[in-house]
Amino acid sequence: MLPLFIRPDADRQLLQQICARHPQLVCHDLADERDWRRAPTDGQTVLWLDALGLGLRRREAQHPGVVRVDFAQATWQHRLAGRAGAGELVARACGVRQGRLPRVLDLTAGFGADAWILASQGLQVDLYERSPWVALLLADGLRRALASADLQATAARMRLQEGDAHRLLATLQPGDYDTLYLDPMFPGEGTKARSGKAMSLLQHLVGDDADADALLAAARRLGARVVVKRPRLAPCLGGVEPSHVLSGKSVRFDIYAATFRDEADA
Ligand SMILES: C[S@@+](CC[C@H](N)C(=O)[O-])C[C@H]1O[C@@H](n2cnc3c(N)ncnc32)[C@H](O)[C@@H]1O
Repeated sequence: MLPLFIRPDADRQLLQQICARHPQLVCHDLADERDWRRAPTDGQTVLWLDALGLGLRRREAQHPGVVRVDFAQATWQHRLAGRAGAGELVARACGVRQGRLPRVLDLTAGFGADAWILASQGLQVDLYERSPWVALLLADGLRRALASADLQATAARMRLQEGDAHRLLATLQPGDYDTLYLDPMFPGEGTKARSGKAMSLLQHLVGDDADADALLAAARRLGARVVVKRPRLAPCLGGVEPSHVLSGKSVRFDIYAATFRDEADA
């Protein structure tokens, strides 16, 4: 259980919503922000609520800032502006082509970066995330995006649910989605293919996704196109060779062609 630190300027309605979802959260009201590193809690990672919304902080002094899911951030906009269109690898991997917008289910939502790129191309993306904390942070990022005139159209195409994708897959029928997207944590990640503060915090929160091989097997049973994001030089998930591969500088997308509907094949 992560503790929640609340700054005096935090939105009280948002706080109520968070506590209603997670009544067991231990909350610390901060009269003076300088005290927060000394507050008696276990663990180094804490949830942080302030006027901007929800974030994560590390208690070590060398991690000063708050990490949030912020779709308005300059790095995001740069990434989208620079490589927008179906040329963006993840979009191509998921089967986006002119005039074709596949229905995508992102089984490993994380902080929603890949799903956002897909949604910004006009795709409807359903997202599943099993870590309650990651899901809370992503929900908060989407809440802020929905309130922004520039971002709301994209955010409205993303539907997030908290839960384990294995359970969801067991309820789906072939044809419910065109593409199932998986981007599990890779052992030792956060230092290599996906460096950055957000990714290393994610690694602290969720660890390695040791059941990723089984998730691929369950996803493939539905017969939809399945796309797996991997570090460029990593072995294939479960040792299962994909139908084809799209490689970028540090990551690659392993594509398992659809067996249910021919037109969804690459
Ligand atoms: C590497 S992150 C995904 C990053 C994401 N693609 C992005 O662009 O931000 C992997 C996430 O998948 C989640 N995850 C792994 N296995 C899952 C499962 N079976 N069901 C739901 N979420 C899962 C983890 O909790 C973690 O947050």
